[in-house]
Amino acid sequence: MAVPIDIALPGQTAADALAVTVGRPLGGEGVRIVDEKLGGRVRGLVESGELRGDTGEALVIHTNGELEAPRLILVGSGPRDEVDLDALRTAGAAAANALARVGGTACWLLDETLPIPLPAQAAALVEGTILGGYSPGRWKTRDTEKAPRAVERIVIGHFETPELREAAERAALVAEYTNRARDLANMPPNELDPHALAEYAQALASEHEHLKADVLGPREMDKLGMGALAAVGRGSRREPRLVVLRYAPPQATNPDVTLGLVGKAITFDAGGISLKPAAKMEDMKGDMAGGAGTLLGIAAVAALGLPLRALAVIAAAENLPGGDAFRPGDILRAANGKTIEIVNTDAEGRLVLADALWYARREGATHVLDIATLTGAMELALGDQYAGLFANDDDWRDRIVAAGERSGDLTWPFPLHARYRRYVDSTYADMKNASTLRQGGPALAAKFLEEFAGEGPWAHLDMAGPGFLERSRGDYYRVPGGTGYGVRLIAELAGSLA
Ligand code: BES
Ligand code: MN
Ligand code: ZN
Repeated sequence: MAVPIDIALPGQTAADALAVTVGRPLGGEGVRIVDEKLGGRVRGLVESGELRGDTGEALVIHTNGELEAPRLILVGSGPRDEVDLDALRTAGAAAANALARVGGTACWLLDETLPIPLPAQAAALVEGTILGGYSPGRWKTRDTEKAPRAVERIVIGHFETPELREAAERAALVAEYTNRARDLANMPPNELDPHALAEYAQALASEHEHLKADVLGPREMDKLGMGALAAVGRGSRREPRLVVLRYAPPQATNPDVTLGLVGKAITFDAGGISLKPAAKMEDMKGDMAGGAGTLLGIAAVAALGLPLRALAVIAAAENLPGGDAFRPGDILRAANGKTIEIVNTDAEGRLVLADALWYARREGATHVLDIATLTGAMELALGDQYAGLFANDDDWRDRIVAAGERSGDLTWPFPLHARYRRYVDSTYADMKNASTLRQGGPALAAKFLEEFAGEGPWAHLDMAGPGFLERSRGDYYRVPGGTGYGVRLIAELAGSLA
């Protein structure tokens, strides 16, 4: 399934296209060689203004035998002194898009004159090529001739070094798992319900030697006293599931650390009795994107064979208004014994996470990170670029921010101040699940979750914005829908703990 990677000098292996980044001003060893072989045509295109080197720009030319590959893709990477990993990922995606009619093998030239190490360049180009080639149109019945083609094989046009191979193969794997998480988020809620998600997780776990899946249904939830998760699931005939994955490699370097990942997986969020308005409700099939990110994230950690213990707890339910649905006014008891007055059934994510967080601690998680499409207000604040990060521990928060920067799954810290807690005080119970206050919604949700986070470092990522896109982001996410947010972050974070 993963895109195979080769490291070989161009010409030593067949490719359908040679791809080279073009920055401003024009420069770099790769462009110079290609330009020379083509008798100055690249320079000519730049001088005529047909090729500007803008980020995301791609120009395909047939080489008619003047290069080994039948076509050359010139991909913009923006001003040369501003080129970073994101610019290279975006260039990778632009090349994948330019190749969408032919697919095949792409051979990337690296640029020794950039201040970015070659393995990191290779990784960013590979990642961008795979993420940029993703197509969300699986359900279209058009003939296969017209369906877009993804790049099937990527060559890094350089002599082989272990560092280059390691970086490029890791990037291909993580990007592939990211695309699998996108597939899950894009699946329609009539196909992906909590049961189907659990079956997917079990199949995924069986692909990896040290990854085991366990699935809990309503009866097990009742036994454990998970009154919050169970209540959210009651409005739908499709029962809720708690999906638990354990990754226990024999060679864990630090036996005192278990990374605990907790994901919100509402397979469809209609809002329940507090029904949402109709506009864009279809996008609430993506309300399981946090769960998909944690699921494919822990699977990527297992596939990479990282030497650390990890646990993923994914709370899956469908939030519908139904004859047995939970209601505003209900008082629920969560697994940790705390009571919750329901004032809005559309604030369901924090309820399912409450029980999942408790479970993650019970199973020994030492460092907990929950990932959820939790509040529309977080999307209003940060748009599609950043997830908001709340944490009870500064070191844990900083480590997550740093992993986010390196991985491309960006996070931005928000405050978890004690005085936000009063706005979820309830007259009748320990807390209420929402506030009538139209202020600080994401922080109130985080304060609510903190009640269930147990002892030890915990962080909450509200990825409502970058988790599921309404439109192309103009970078390597070229299409609307799921982004697989979290997979790249988790792979990087786990790597930093191992
Ligand atoms: N899944 C939504 C949050 C959401 C909205 C994510 C839009 C992505 C895009 C969540 O369950 C929700 O409905 N939150 C409510 C909370 C409110 C009732 C306190 C919200 O944000 O309005
Ligand atoms: Mn909701
Ligand atoms: Zn929701």
